[in-house]
Amino acid sequence: MNDSASMYSEALITALMNADSVAVLTGAGVSAESGVKTFRDPDGLWMKFKPEELANFDAFMRNPELVWEWYNHRKEIAASVKPNPGHYAIAEMESLFKEFTLITQNVDDLHRRAGTSNPIELHGNITRSFCIDCNKFYDKVEVSEQQKIPKCDCGGMIRPDVVWFGEMLPMNAIQTATAAAQDADVFFSIGTSGEVYPAAQLPGIARQYGAYVVEVNPGKTSISFQMNECLLGPSGVVLPPIIEELKRRKLSA
Ligand code: OAD
Repeated sequence: MNDSASMYSEALITALMNADSVAVLTGAGVSAESGVKTFRDPDGLWMKFKPEELANFDAFMRNPELVWEWYNHRKEIAASVKPNPGHYAIAEMESLFKEFTLITQNVDDLHRRAGTSNPIELHGNITRSFCIDCNKFYDKVEVSEQQKIPKCDCGGMIRPDVVWFGEMLPMNAIQTATAAAQDADVFFSIGTSGEVYPAAQLPGIARQYGAYVVEVNPGKTSISFQMNECLLGPSGVVLPPIIEELKRRKLSA
């Protein structure tokens, strides 16, 4: 395995030059440089808040106001920050390969705002919500002092469209993500600790099916051992030079 502090290898550029199909899995780390906190870093959300009080259905039923307050706060942060060079580099990849799939665990919508056209959102999207009674989807719901828990036209409570602990991932999303991992010639695992399954099994699946698998992260993770190459650094620093080099080689090829 090649471990390098942000310097990519010739083997990676060769694999990318020969790749028809590239897939990328991202986690909270890709948004860290935008100012969105990760979950498990020393200043991460799960170091300060308890997932069992905020991120599961029972917690929502017990105290919907608290859960909405927390998600609304995160929604405001996500809306107030901007995609960073890591998001833009990933968005650019889409035009460089015959097939490209972005799989994200993030709910902050920053990949879409950076220009990725059809991200597979394994854990949902914080900008959307749905009614727990009739399942009607809402693109925008307002939470205010007067209306602390948004209500559906049918009278049911509306919840954020995110996957909570103990809930299944959207079936279509995990199936498409798994197929993309199996099909990938190069697979990137970017800004994820690899602690949460089934997302964390995707790099291993890609490797098993023959992909060149690369991790981008400032530190080692519990899935680093599955990688062909670990690029140690922030994604907004590591990714742009790889894309620039690739574009240069493709132009001169
Ligand atoms: P974690 O907080 O577990 O991991 C974030 C990773 O990003 C760590 O490995 C950091 O080293 C790395 N990181 C930090 N800054 C970075 C940077 N600038 N560039 C690249 N990497 C950086 O977040 P996730 O792996 O996304 O699920 O967590 C997975 C899931 O756990 C989340 O989707 C969420 C959480 O519980 C749900 O809420 C369902």
